[in-house]
Amino acid sequence: MCGIVGYIGNRNSQPILLEGLKKLEYRGYDSAGVAVFTEQGLKIQKAKGRLAVLESQLVAAPLDGTIGIGHTRWATHGKPSDVNSHPHTDNSMKFSVVHNGIIENYMTLKEELTAKGHRFVSETDTEVISHLIADLYQGDIVRAVQQAVQRMTGAFALGVLTEYEPDRLVAVRLASPLIIGVGEGENFIGSDIPAILEYTRQVYILNDGEMAVLTRDGVELMTLEGNFISRELFHVDWDLITAEKAGFDHFMLKEIYEQPKAYKDTMGSRISPDGTRVVLPEVGMSAETIRGIRNVHIVACGTAYHAGLIGKSVIEKLARIPVETDVASEYRYRAPIITPETLVIVVSQSGETADTLAALREAKRCGARVLAITNVVGSSVAREADDVIVTWAGPEIAVASTKAYTSQLVAFYLFGLYLAQTLESQTTEYIREVIAALRLLPEQVEYLLGQSETVKEYAKHIAQHQSLFFIGRGMDYAVALEGSLKLKEISYIHSEAYAAGELKHGTLALIEEGIPVIALATQEALLEKTISNIKEVKARGGRVFGLALSGNEELGKAVDEVYTVPRTHPLLTAALSVVPLQLLAYYTSLARGNDVDKPRNLAKSVTVE
Ligand code: M6R
Repeated sequence: MCGIVGYIGNRNSQPILLEGLKKLEYRGYDSAGVAVFTEQGLKIQKAKGRLAVLESQLVAAPLDGTIGIGHTRWATHGKPSDVNSHPHTDNSMKFSVVHNGIIENYMTLKEELTAKGHRFVSETDTEVISHLIADLYQGDIVRAVQQAVQRMTGAFALGVLTEYEPDRLVAVRLASPLIIGVGEGENFIGSDIPAILEYTRQVYILNDGEMAVLTRDGVELMTLEGNFISRELFHVDWDLITAEKAGFDHFMLKEIYEQPKAYKDTMGSRISPDGTRVVLPEVGMSAETIRGIRNVHIVACGTAYHAGLIGKSVIEKLARIPVETDVASEYRYRAPIITPETLVIVVSQSGETADTLAALREAKRCGARVLAITNVVGSSVAREADDVIVTWAGPEIAVASTKAYTSQLVAFYLFGLYLAQTLESQTTEYIREVIAALRLLPEQVEYLLGQSETVKEYAKHIAQHQSLFFIGRGMDYAVALEGSLKLKEISYIHSEAYAAGELKHGTLALIEEGIPVIALATQEALLEKTISNIKEVKARGGRVFGLALSGNEELGKAVDEVYTVPRTHPLLTAALSVVPLQLLAYYTSLARGNDVDKPRNLAKSVTVE
């Protein structure tokens, strides 16, 4: 969504804020700004566009001072513009605020403050916060922030400075992530750990409804009501290299190539050394609880939702429990039937997606047990769920999710097998077979990554088109949805994914001479049916690029070009077939000259509903 960074110490804050913002730019990149205490008072520089625009402004007119806050924006209220960029201030220019999230009642507050004489210059909800704090200020910034927060509804994280108290930086978290970095003689705030990792590994993770008051020499944590909190510091044990490009041109390509490692790390010690069982000590469900599960709801957004579609097939096939998969923004508004015998699985790379979090809370309110599959230890989703399976994919920076998705698939395979062995719904021999295939996936992905030339060539071809289709049956259909989303997201080419058998019920009308159709055909049991659908497309002039399992030569005869995927267990094909589709989206975006890692209009972490 938006990225917040803040510094208080003895060094010049401008380079620290800019470096922090570079690490957070994946969260929002339509504008950026900083506010720094200088000898002339609180000074703000902000600019529409990428961080580089602000950076060049600051080279021309640097801000010198040892306390500051910074922000990268993903617009919600008001278009991207200089004036709508953060930090915002009040009419006296003595207060400055950076904000991630939404203030739902900002119009009411704005009217009230306008009646009192406050004048607003931007279209944002954030500007209201700086005016509200200024209005409530009576010599104690902490108290003014606490009172302001009580008047605000919505979800937010804040960084606040006032010229009246130049030795304090105030941070607030209410449903939008914020961490505090603790250094020696200096302290930091950030929306995410990479923003401060260059300077310290010691962090406090703020919970919802908590705030922090930072000085040079210390950090006080308290509730929004002012009750002090004592908390252990969290030591970050991964390094910054993992969150940087490491020689790749883009984070997305690096993350695609990290998938073999992400698969291995996510399987880790969760498979018994003899390869017969899945071991999930982090899932605290007793065998009796598992036997009591009547149905499963999988809830997620975007790519994580697509992983959930595969999760549905996997759990239904392995455990024979009925599963529904829902888009999180729809789930709680459709009054789903959730009972204490429902297991709700929420899937979220970031663990901070507002819709997914709201679905989790609704499930808990209805008495369901919630299992989270997330990539971020300590995220909101991880903290609020009853059980957590962490996907050890490492930090994912590119907006287009790749290694997080495939690690989510691995988590579903493991959990499906875990259910099956507890419920004895599959034989030990069958479970052993799936586990053996699972263990081969990392080297099969390595092989696929070595075959990227065909994909590169095909990308040049589709980069010329304005529209295309993905088709597939069964789990191939779920992967087609993910391939299509990936392509749309970063290449801006219109594409649609269809269940191959559904095409003839309307969409076939759109097939005309030369239109590219990507046909996934890795579900052997459905191969003949899929080939019939491919022929329907070919007969109308469609140009088909097929994705087949090696050895299925008959597909090669039905399509214009074929790309083969190594054979694996039928339950696991998605973990391989998605890789060429990720590469296809990447190379198509590149061929079109787009910003691969930061596609237009999108943000990595969507913390508003
Ligand atoms: O952090 P989450 O997994 O909850 O994010 C969900 C979606 O916003 C995310 O998967 C989005 O669809 C990706 N940008 C797709 O590549």
